[in-house]
Order: sequence, then structure tokens, then C-alpha cells
Amino acid sequence: MKLIESIHIDNVSYRRLIKLLRVKTGLNFEYYNKPFIEKRIKSRMIRVNCDDPEDYLKQISSQKEEVKKFVDGFTINYTFFFRDYDVFETFQDILLHGLNVSKKDVNSDIKPAPSKRANFRTKANAAKNIVKNRKLTYKPEKSYVDIFIFLNQLAFYKKIKLVPSEKNSINVWSCPCATGEEPYSIAMIMDNLKTQVPRFPKYRIVASDIAHEAIEKAKIGIYTHDSMKEISDYYENKYFTKQKTHFGYNSSISGTIKNKVEFVEEDVTTGHNRPYKYDIIFCRYLLIYFNRENRAKFLKIIENRLVENGILVLGKTETLFDSWGSLKLIDSRNRIYIKSHSNLY
Ligand SMILES: C[S@@+](CC[C@H](N)C(=O)[O-])C[C@H]1O[C@@H](n2cnc3c(N)ncnc32)[C@H](O)[C@@H]1O
Repeated sequence: MKLIESIHIDNVSYRRLIKLLRVKTGLNFEYYNKPFIEKRIKSRMIRVNCDDPEDYLKQISSQKEEVKKFVDGFTINYTFFFRDYDVFETFQDILLHGLNVSKKDVNSDIKPAPSKRANFRTKANAAKNIVKNRKLTYKPEKSYVDIFIFLNQLAFYKKIKLVPSEKNSINVWSCPCATGEEPYSIAMIMDNLKTQVPRFPKYRIVASDIAHEAIEKAKIGIYTHDSMKEISDYYENKYFTKQKTHFGYNSSISGTIKNKVEFVEEDVTTGHNRPYKYDIIFCRYLLIYFNRENRAKFLKIIENRLVENGILVLGKTETLFDSWGSLKLIDSRNRIYIKSHSNLY
């Protein structure tokens, strides 16, 4: 088996390849980090036993199947339920704070059993976390009272206080959603709270991804063990049923949760084709693949789609900035930003 390092793609061939791939797929590969795309091309070349980029170009131009394989692998739609579970705990803590409900008054165990945890992570308490981070990163002279001013300003807290109506539903966008595990995790948390908290607001969850097959899989809602590897017993038992197959067991997500998520297939770098503004946007494990120019373009789309005082959750892998336009970092552990034009932050 050849090694990736043994293959060389010169600049001219690289440009020709991504130009051809754009024609064949409609996707602009210039938007992604070059080393990431190059690695993808090389690993396909190894798979089809080819070490000359010009030969691979011929394969791409004549074989539809190879184009499909290239794109399927390129999208890397690796994901699982409650991935980085403390991001979801923080999300739930923020919701509970707005609802004026104490965590100990609701049943919701997001943390998976130790045997299921990929990495040990300490429990995150949103308010404490935000206080800690703000003390470290922002205006240390500000008092703790400001934290609660900040939390209470969140756009969806105002909606929570209103009488629930379609007009003031809390809108959440999961982008990219891959095979659905992230938006379904959000939906499980919200549905679980809804059944326990009186006057829980209406909400809408939209989930989008570029990969057709991933979206189709998400809509089916049947998952293998890999997707379930970090889900707590509480959520697994409440929202899944087991199905026996020839290869073991699959887990099928409940219809209630499936109906809560609206899936959209789209390339988010060209915009978002739903008409909503969002209170919360989850955008995890995507920006890392984009080049600088595309990040900026995409962040502009995100910024425009957030309501004032809405929240952007970038998650643990993104190491972007302390602020970007009107997006201000409020939790550096989970990379959570608030959209605010105020200079309070
Ligand atoms: C690693 S998954 C992230 C899934 C989920 N957010 C998570 O954190 O587990 C990355 C996803 O980004 C999607 N993607 C890549 N480029 C995209 C684009 N231009 N528009 C929409 N989705 C894109 C891929 O198809 C893939 O499903």
C-alpha cells in the first residue's frame, strides 16, 4: 500500500483538479483548506491505484462513480449524539436560567456513564463557566451582577417570558448537521424540558448539511452503535428503541423527536434557504475545514441570521477569535458567542 507522502501534486494539476471537481459537483473546493483537499485527493488516488495526478484527472472526468466517492469521503460527516456533552449541558443550563428553573428540579442526565465517555471532562456549569471566562478574558473590573444582566438579555429569554405563540418561537439552527445526531440531541433536551417545565416556549429546529446521503440518513433516524457511544442512559432509554439486525442492534429515534427537526440540504457557503432568524446557532466542526476567506464569508451569513442577543455555539475545536464583528466571546471553553452591538461585552 502506497503512503500519502509518496504522492506529489503540483500546483497546476491541483488547480485543474479542483476546477474539474467544481464542474462535476457544483462545489467550490477553493473554499476549503488546501492541505485538507489535497489529502482527500491523495487518499482517493491511492485507493484507485494511481500516482499521477493527471491520470486521476482523467478518471474524474470519465467516471461518475469516482466523483461520487470523492465527495462522499470529502464531507467527513463524522458525528455522534451529545458529542462533547458538556457543550449540551451548558446549552441546557442557559435555557434553565432563562426559564427560572433550578437544575435540581428537572430530570435530565446528559452526562454519559464513565464507561461511555471517550475522554473524561469535568462538569460545566454555564453561569460559573461564563463568570470564570469573563473574569479571565473580559473587563475584570465588572462585577458578577453583569453576568446576569448579560444572560437576561438573551433574545430568547424575552420570548420565554411572553405567552408562547408561533411568532415568538425559539429558533435553533444546527449547521452542519451531518447525519442528524446534533440537531436530534438539541431536540431531545428541549422536548425533555418541555415535558417538565410549565409554559415552556414553542421552538423550531432547522438542520442543514451539504451531503445528500447524510441528510437522507438523518431523516430515517436509525443509528448504529458508533452514534450512540456517548449518549447517557437517560436519553437513550427515553427516546430510542432497539432494532435487531443481522449485524447486532440499531437504535431508532422516536417519532416525536424526528418531527421536531426540519432538514435542509444546502451548501451553507452560498447562503441559507430558510426564511428564519435564529436565537441559537450551533456550528461545530465546520470552520476548521474552511480557508480564511470562506470563514469570513460564512461567518457573515451566520451573523446576519442571528437575532440581536442571539447565541452562536462553535464548540471545542474552533480557535477563531475573541470577537468577530458583532459576535462576542462569552464562554471560551465551549466557544460560545453572543451577537451584540452593545459595548457591554
Ligand atoms: C464533522 S461534521 C459536523 C457535524 C456536527 N456539527 C458535529 O459537530 O458533530 C461536518 C459536516 O460539514 C458538512 N459540510 C462541509 N462543507 C459544507 C458546506 N459547504 N455546507 C454545508 N455543510 C458542509 C459535511 O457534509 C459534514 O457533514
